[in-house]
Amino acid sequence: MRPLGDHLREDRAARSLALSRAATRRAPHYATPAGSTRAIYPERSDRREGNTTTVRVVVGAQFGDEAKGKISDYLASGARYVVRSGGGPNAGHSIHLPEGPVVLHQLACGVLRHGVVGVSGPGMVVQPMKLEAEMQELERRGLLRGQVVLSDRAHVLLPVHEIEDAWEDELRAKKNPQAGLGTTKSGIGPAYSDRSGRWGVRLGDLARPAQLRERLELLYATKTHVPNLPPVEELTSQLVEVGSRLDPLIRPTEPMLWDAIARRETILLEGAQSALLDVDFGTYPFVTSSHPTSAGQLVGSGIPPTEVDEVIGVAKAYCTRVGAGPFPTEDTGERGEYLRRVGGERGATTGRPRRCGWLDLVMLRYGARLNGFTSLAITKVDVLGGLEEVPVCTQYLMPDGSTVRDVLPTQADELARAQPVYENLPGWPEFHQRLKDRVQKEGASALPSTLRRYLDRITEETRVPVQYVGYGADRSETVALAPPTGPGRRASMTPWTG
Ligand code: IMO
Ligand code: MG
Repeated sequence: MRPLGDHLREDRAARSLALSRAATRRAPHYATPAGSTRAIYPERSDRREGNTTTVRVVVGAQFGDEAKGKISDYLASGARYVVRSGGGPNAGHSIHLPEGPVVLHQLACGVLRHGVVGVSGPGMVVQPMKLEAEMQELERRGLLRGQVVLSDRAHVLLPVHEIEDAWEDELRAKKNPQAGLGTTKSGIGPAYSDRSGRWGVRLGDLARPAQLRERLELLYATKTHVPNLPPVEELTSQLVEVGSRLDPLIRPTEPMLWDAIARRETILLEGAQSALLDVDFGTYPFVTSSHPTSAGQLVGSGIPPTEVDEVIGVAKAYCTRVGAGPFPTEDTGERGEYLRRVGGERGATTGRPRRCGWLDLVMLRYGARLNGFTSLAITKVDVLGGLEEVPVCTQYLMPDGSTVRDVLPTQADELARAQPVYENLPGWPEFHQRLKDRVQKEGASALPSTLRRYLDRITEETRVPVQYVGYGADRSETVALAPPTGPGRRASMTPWTG
């Protein structure tokens, strides 16, 4: 395979030009014809006098793996930019294309579509060797159709971070078996620690070998406790090499996005991880080290909050968690096993079996208030097809007799003691091919009435309209419901009492 740099050379001086348009012209290999920016709901007007939606944020509303990749891919067909704004190789976004399944870790799903720019944004920690391998694999399969742009502000996740991550999680578990986090061992925690501690190296540094070496030496001075590190010279030359191949893709991404907003082009922020894994608002310390909330994604992309039009929370029709931490609706019995088997619930990044349980409306209400969801996407409804009844958790009963409706306890051990109170809703038929075909042809009106009731119940209980439904893994198996006329933007902010 030719090195990426061969066909991606560009004139550095030209970088200050209007980047998005110019990028389409100048990066011949990954370039695609200028795409149209068809809005998903052209009829939906936003607050800017008749213009279509420009900035949409997709947020995981549970513990990750909600099929954010699938929903983002669906929405990407109407976008010009798709931006990953946090996390790194810990994410695993599965998308089922007609050519076969794809799992993206560090690239935004926009790279799979002609005319779309996939941005790995400033808030990410990027492992450049793995990112290059991810691009090469897509290219080999003929699936790298959009353009790749990498933020020069994104931090570099280094081999030392991967070593430290595994070592730290082992140490935690050795000290106390309850304390292991079960991280993805991809180096996320240590990379973000070094970013906050100001020891980090950024993608933009890879083109400055002397500065890079100096920064790595400084960083290594803090790592004397870590065994088996590759020597600094070796690491520097490895990074300079990969950096030179990726160089044509590395640039300031925020002005590119600001220009796009000014042109009313559609931008999709593809969340990774989930609100409940947020380092501040998740189930600390059983969280990741970034801010996967809607607000965190704005910080991680450089888009101001005043430009956001929609925040779409993505939740499975049930719930899963991979790694340690409290999970009130976990079902460790046969039914949980059923969900794991039918839902194919195995980690896309680590291959670990996911813990499975039921939809938790307390968490969705919490997520709605925390992220300001304007709508919900409910995925994998087909997995529950054929069940007689489907339990949903409407509140928690706490050991002191109090009930919790929408504010999660701050302490993880308190949340672990919460007893879920369930309501059983009638199930819906299996999603056999005939039903899928009807939904394809007729749209949401062909969804079974019991499923519609389930979705309505979610809206009643969260005050957030369900706008998208995923009923299979395939790219085509998502249906949009009517645009919300519903309870209004701030309805979910009102506290739930009783
Ligand atoms: P996507 O984007 C599910 C979990 C890990 C672990 C905790 C900390 O595919 O939804 P880390 O490696 O981030 O330090 O691990 O967070 N975790 C995820 N779980 N989906 C993800 O991403 C996750 N990213 C991290 O399992 O419990
Ligand atoms: Mg995943």
